[in-house]
Amino acid sequence: MSKTLERWGSKRAFILAVTGAAVGLGNIWRFPYVAGENGGAAFLLIYVAFVILLGIPVMMAEILIGRAGRRGPMQALGALAAEAGASRHWRWLGLFGAFTVFCILSFYSVVSGWSIEFLVASINGNFRGASAAEIGAGFDAFLANPGLLIFNHTLFLLMTMVVVAAGVAKGLERLNNLLMPLLYGLLLLLAAYAATTSGFGTALSWLFLPSLEALTPSVVLHAMGHAFFTLAVGACALMAYGAYMPDEQSLPRAAVAVAVLDISVALLAGIAIFSVVFSQGMDPADGPGLMFVTLPIAFSELPWGSLWLSVFFLLLLLATWTSAINLAEPMVATLQGFGWRRSVSTAVVALSVWSIGLLSALSFSTLADFRPLLGRNVFELVSSIPPDIFLPLGGLLIAIFAAWVLPRSAAAAALGVGERGYLCWRNVVRWVSIPLTLMVLLSGLL
Ligand code: TRP
Repeated sequence: MSKTLERWGSKRAFILAVTGAAVGLGNIWRFPYVAGENGGAAFLLIYVAFVILLGIPVMMAEILIGRAGRRGPMQALGALAAEAGASRHWRWLGLFGAFTVFCILSFYSVVSGWSIEFLVASINGNFRGASAAEIGAGFDAFLANPGLLIFNHTLFLLMTMVVVAAGVAKGLERLNNLLMPLLYGLLLLLAAYAATTSGFGTALSWLFLPSLEALTPSVVLHAMGHAFFTLAVGACALMAYGAYMPDEQSLPRAAVAVAVLDISVALLAGIAIFSVVFSQGMDPADGPGLMFVTLPIAFSELPWGSLWLSVFFLLLLLATWTSAINLAEPMVATLQGFGWRRSVSTAVVALSVWSIGLLSALSFSTLADFRPLLGRNVFELVSSIPPDIFLPLGGLLIAIFAAWVLPRSAAAAALGVGERGYLCWRNVVRWVSIPLTLMVLLSGLL
């Protein structure tokens, strides 16, 4: 990561790479279940507001730092801080980001493993003709089987680390080009199917008509965390991608394009999933299994259901794969920054994420009652605290660095939209994003 890096092949390739990082389990699995547990429309409204007010401006801050530094996160932060006459300690922000993605990847890999299992099951036609109750019971039985969970977690992590070890840029470009339109098309089809079900109306009002009593500080905190999570912002992971960004590209335009795509994928998935929830009389607050139970039910009622379901899980798996690769990159880059070889760094990261991931995999069976903190088990802890607390905290520091520490000329050049555009962005970050993040973090914690 030390010398000048290769650049993405084109502007489109950069947008696709960032979209690949953004679109993943967060949109299709995490959004519906967290929204389900947090009152639906109230959560959605706040989350979209946070994407606009925090997510997009901070995403620009993060990519801008990478682009200005053209190095791995820690070195970029250290070098830019030194140039600005600020403390070299800013580089520890890169390490904090690496720690955050470490926690996230440990459960992300376990849940991605569920997609592998469901892909295989749908290819085998296991859901054909199954009732909603049978599909739900099948999922619970699967979670209670630690061996299977660990096997799939291992497989997914291996799949991810092979690409990371080889270096990210090249393979991703081509994969995303093909993958995103297909995934989008299939979700459109699903949403169209959802419109024919009896739960469609209820799903729409539940998703889009907020009731204000539902707006508690904890809902607001979850919504903020999810805005960062779904955009892949706050852990210096996009910083690493910014380092490869072509010189002539407009950063704000790329960030807005990614955010629009990301939100619309979540909305399509939400419409499809909640229509099934309400048609089947299920509980929206059913937790992490929500998507894995509802979508097989939806597809099993469609002609060629098993085929569509297999294609869906395949696409979902590929989307989570590109996200996981992005999650792994800051850790590998950090170790490389300490002078380690890429292959060794990747192996060390893989092994540590794998072992901590075991605790998540076992949280549904053997370790279900091991609740070290806040009465939550390991899976519940790593899937809530790093997204809800660490990402906003990281994002806050990234925003402060980009909007207050970086010299104006360097930041404006890296943003790529001229002086006026730069000042506009800086005002939003200084006077909206930073205070808002701080306020929500504090009120959520207290
Ligand atoms: N955004 C991805 C998703 O929605 C997850 C992700 C990828 C991520 N890279 C990240 C989250 C970096 C935080 C930081 O599935």
